[in-house]
Amino acid sequence: MCQKESKRQKHIEKMFREREKSLRKASEIFEQKVIPYFNNLNESLDIGTGSGYTAFTLAKHFKKVVSIDSEPKCLKTAEIKAARENIKNIQFFQMDAHKLKFPDESFDVVTCRAAIHHFDDPIKVLGEVHRVLKKEGFFVLMDFCFSETAIRELAPLSRIRESDFRGYYTFHDYCDLLESNSFLMEVIYTYTLPRVIQEWAAIAPENIQERIINAFLNLSEKVHKELRLYKEGDRYIMLYRIVEIISKKWR
Ligand SMILES: C[S@@+](CC[C@H](N)C(=O)[O-])C[C@H]1O[C@@H](n2cnc3c(N)ncnc32)[C@H](O)[C@@H]1O
Repeated sequence: MCQKESKRQKHIEKMFREREKSLRKASEIFEQKVIPYFNNLNESLDIGTGSGYTAFTLAKHFKKVVSIDSEPKCLKTAEIKAARENIKNIQFFQMDAHKLKFPDESFDVVTCRAAIHHFDDPIKVLGEVHRVLKKEGFFVLMDFCFSETAIRELAPLSRIRESDFRGYYTFHDYCDLLESNSFLMEVIYTYTLPRVIQEWAAIAPENIQERIINAFLNLSEKVHKELRLYKEGDRYIMLYRIVEIISKKWR
């Protein structure tokens, strides 16, 4: 590897290490603040499990965890990690969150973290969550939370960046979505996570990454302020807001 390439490789690794740190912070908040809230730790379901961060934390506390994701590739990664870490109480299924193949009232807790922005029909998913939750069961919803202005500017860019992106939500959208679908909000946590813009754009095909970064840097000042955009060396970093809501099945 030539010197220039190795420098670039190190730069990429550094950006992804920072991403790992953010994901770890989100897992720690979940473990320290959310898990202690549950009184029944038998069976939990993690929807849109991805590479399994939430499921692995659940597995430390629940007797049984069921993890579903629509993408076989994500499930494979999570399954390999679980095997490597000798975690035996997680079952993985390829399944669409809009059509859960579980009987009514199966789970004490359902979690959906960083996945709702991918769903075609979040109301349908919430209906399914409500159906599979036991009476008085808990639903934990965690995702980005932006203002209407930020959504108007950022969503079109996110759609180009990631083809399965569907939409962002405001805080009021989340309240509405939960309360009008028979969930009672009990506790709300909010925090920010840093994200390097170059790494955020790196999920897009290589030939459009530069354009995505430039478009991001051209968002309005108001949105940059909301995202607390700052520069550190040659990296641009945003601090995006996360909302994590613990709600209870209501009737
Ligand atoms: C950012 S990842 C989620 C990360 C994970 N929940 C965590 O806590 O680390 C979003 C996941 O949602 C999954 N997903 C998107 N649409 C879905 C659907 N309709 N049903 C199930 N999973 C879906 C994607 O395949 C992806 O793995």
